[in-house]
Amino acid sequence: MITIGIESTCDETSCSIVKDGKEILSLVTASSANIHAKYGGVFPEMACRHHIDVILPVIEEAMQKGRVSKDQIDLIAVANGPGLIGALLIGLQAAKGLAIAWQKPFIGVNHVEAHLYAAMMDHEPTLPALGVVLSGGHTLLLQIQDIGNYVAIGTTVDDALGEAFDKVAKLLSLPYPGGPHVENLALNGDPNRYSFKAGNVKKSPFDFSFSGIKTSVLYTVKDQKLSITDKADIAASFQEAALQDIVKKTGLALKKFPDTKAIYLGGGVCNNDRLRALFKEKFPEVSLYFPSKRLSLDNAAMIAGLGYQKFLQNPKSDSLDLEAKARIPIA
Ligand code: KG4
Ligand code: ZN
Repeated sequence: MITIGIESTCDETSCSIVKDGKEILSLVTASSANIHAKYGGVFPEMACRHHIDVILPVIEEAMQKGRVSKDQIDLIAVANGPGLIGALLIGLQAAKGLAIAWQKPFIGVNHVEAHLYAAMMDHEPTLPALGVVLSGGHTLLLQIQDIGNYVAIGTTVDDALGEAFDKVAKLLSLPYPGGPHVENLALNGDPNRYSFKAGNVKKSPFDFSFSGIKTSVLYTVKDQKLSITDKADIAASFQEAALQDIVKKTGLALKKFPDTKAIYLGGGVCNNDRLRALFKEKFPEVSLYFPSKRLSLDNAAMIAGLGYQKFLQNPKSDSLDLEAKARIPIA
């Protein structure tokens, strides 16, 4: 079964052709990150304009590279949330247009859930598992009982982890998106020089808070003439404190769910090698699944893959009235 996936939740316009929910025949992604770079964060209006400009060429290129014609496509999957409403509408309308023109079923999927599916694309999932989504918009800890069946454990009460990396990058005058630049700078830094701490949330031991640590970085850099060594030490100290907090709360969740067989991670921050190393070091007894690096970031292959799985569970098209939603909880 051939699925075409479309992703436009934020600043990436992506289309992918996926066979049987697993085999990626093509994946084409056009990012508008360079347009947002000078604003230090995503400028929604600019993201929307870029989606409109590139969505059709991206779809055409994905079909060409995947060597499929419209007649070979069995299902159209699209992320209908969560994300920026204007951005979501462009992918969703494109998907609906294709569904009408090609007379094919179409299905809306949750972008955050798809981030978790990204690490399942190359195998049958080992369940029950813990899911950890670490992206620019989301920080979630949940139990995965099955695809589509999750139990919420923790979330951020303020900034998402990727957002905190991006804000710290901005404070250190690094380009947007900042996560990879902070990681790079941290390679030469001393993680013990500054005692930054991620927040704990009263009576919610599994929840996250990153706005305090970002403010601590702000006060550390404010009105200071920082050397490159100072900046590297700040990056390393921030990164270590933030990532250790994720590891600590994942460890607590493992204790709460002792039948956990695996941990699935997803989202852009999973491209951080220190995060990958810390998880391997702290949880040697559980199977760890990270998406490949291109599937950690926003992409349409995970949308097509998850759409296929949902369609297997319930083989019927969504209504053409399906709405874009800025927020859709997955548990
Ligand atoms: O999943 P994603 O592509 O988009 C969202 O759904 O938000 O994640 C993008 C986020 C950005 O905040 C980016 O700075 C962060 O992931 N990121 C990283 C790394 N690579 C990307 N954060 C830390 N270390 C990295 N290597
Ligand atoms: Zn994402």
